[in-house]
Amino acid sequence: MTQKPFSIAIDGPAGAGKSTVAKAVAEALGAVYLDTGAMYRTVGLFMHEKGFDSIADIADSVGEANIGVEFMEGRQHMFLDGADVTEAIRSPEASMLASKVGGVAQVRTRLVELQREFAQGHSVVMDGRDIGTDVLPNATLKIFLTASCEVRAERRFQELAQKGVEESYDQVLREIIQRDYNDMHREVSPMRQAEDAIYVDTSLLTVQDAVNRIVEEAEKRGVKRV
Ligand code: DC
Repeated sequence: MTQKPFSIAIDGPAGAGKSTVAKAVAEALGAVYLDTGAMYRTVGLFMHEKGFDSIADIADSVGEANIGVEFMEGRQHMFLDGADVTEAIRSPEASMLASKVGGVAQVRTRLVELQREFAQGHSVVMDGRDIGTDVLPNATLKIFLTASCEVRAERRFQELAQKGVEESYDQVLREIIQRDYNDMHREVSPMRQAEDAIYVDTSLLTVQDAVNRIVEEAEKRGVKRV
């Protein structure tokens, strides 16, 4: 049975488990998952490749960035000028750059427009920093997913180590704290919990616990499992 399109906004800081949880929630509910951080990361990579560093240059040139999002075998791929940059945008440098370009109003205007277009006509689970507060203010369900800085740093550290990226735990923790600060203190759409969002701390939860909690909340709002 087809159900009315719904939207679930999952916001929160780096390393809270948003993408893993959002992906599983989307699968359980038959929705498409959009990782909006990947879009900011792709703009960050573009600015890096062009050597644009100042806010003014970033604001002026974001219109030139040829960004594409495609879904291949259920996985979101990001393209920059036709090249697949899905892996390249995951480096620690790209993370910091994404946080920087995320503070530029012109970048947000362009990406938020793409995100809203994407949400039209079908069910979505979107994760980011401003989905519940700005991108989808009328979302069916809003979640603010977080965890302690130490737990988030440990997760990122393990993730990077598995990919063979050599970074110490202390360095990862410093970057997490810096990125939280940037994301919370920028003037445009700072990361904050929407008033009607449900707060979920994953420090002591398994991925499955967090997914179950969110799916239950979605069911309370009339969304059906597939
Ligand atoms: O979720 P992530 O770690 O991939 O996001 C990378 C950066 O992109 C994050 O530090 C801030 C920015 N971002 C944003 O400003 N707004 C979003 N909706 C998603 C990400």
